[in-house]
Amino acid sequence: MVNVRTTKLGIIGAGAVGTSLAYAALIRGAADQIGIYDLNPARAEAQVLDLAHGTPFAHRTRVAGGGDLDVIAASDVVVITAGASQQPGQTRLDLVTTNAEIIRALMPQLIKRAPEAVYIIVTNPVDVLTEVAADVAGLRRGQVIGSGTTLDSSRLRWLVAERAGVAPRDVHALILGEHGDSAFPLWSNATIGGSPIQDWVDETGAKIFDDDALADLANQAVLSAYSIIAGKGATNYAVGLACVRLVEAILRDEHMVTPVSTVLRDYEGVDGIALSVPCVLGAGGVQRVLRVAMDPGEHDAFQRSGEAMRAVLEEIGQ
Ligand code: LAC
Repeated sequence: MVNVRTTKLGIIGAGAVGTSLAYAALIRGAADQIGIYDLNPARAEAQVLDLAHGTPFAHRTRVAGGGDLDVIAASDVVVITAGASQQPGQTRLDLVTTNAEIIRALMPQLIKRAPEAVYIIVTNPVDVLTEVAADVAGLRRGQVIGSGTTLDSSRLRWLVAERAGVAPRDVHALILGEHGDSAFPLWSNATIGGSPIQDWVDETGAKIFDDDALADLANQAVLSAYSIIAGKGATNYAVGLACVRLVEAILRDEHMVTPVSTVLRDYEGVDGIALSVPCVLGAGGVQRVLRVAMDPGEHDAFQRSGEAMRAVLEEIGQ
């Protein structure tokens, strides 16, 4: 019997986000094995069955799950989606007290079962909980990250692409800082097909990304979760797709450059706080934290994001 190294994705939480991630991983063949844990064993088992029944139409993936944390044992990546989720009108920060306790209780139990895994926090408020998880875990730097603003940046890229009439993949635009209300766009280095966004013109030669348009697009991207939650009760598909890309980058050692939340060390004056900045993501998690030029307004917005997170961390005694 040839011993082939298989990859395993562990998912904590079989709710809308966790199962959207599992579904995306199945379709994309992101991992050889998926283990899904939920506090409600019946829900985890039902989700697993429903996913497994589709495997003849997808990449061969062994899916298992239930109410025993051992289902994630020896995972290469563990994605944590468990916890209270935003209700209509709630901010992500409103969830901090409940979800910080869940993360503090979960991490030691997970690390015991998967000490080498890269941990991706998705549970909100993701930046605060990334710092809490990293602090509790005491693992290698870069081994505990948050999905952060990879999702916000994808929302912004789509919005810009719609306005410019191009493919979202050809828009390079970042949202950095908190995955939340203090997030901000890095318009100073945003490009469409290599051209600075401010220079983009439509067929008539008119510039279509003036300051007002850029402010409106950024606002839509940062606040879009609220309207989605108001309309359908939760967000799940885009965050599931964003997370499966992070999982693939780690499992395949892609050296993908993307903004994820990681505990920063003296970054633009922010220290010991987790915020999203561009990172090189690959085997072992964050391999490098990249410095990115910010204009004075962007620098101030980054500082404000850090201050907002520090205030919440102090509030929960972190
Ligand atoms: C959102 C959740 C994942 O922004 O915070 O959709």
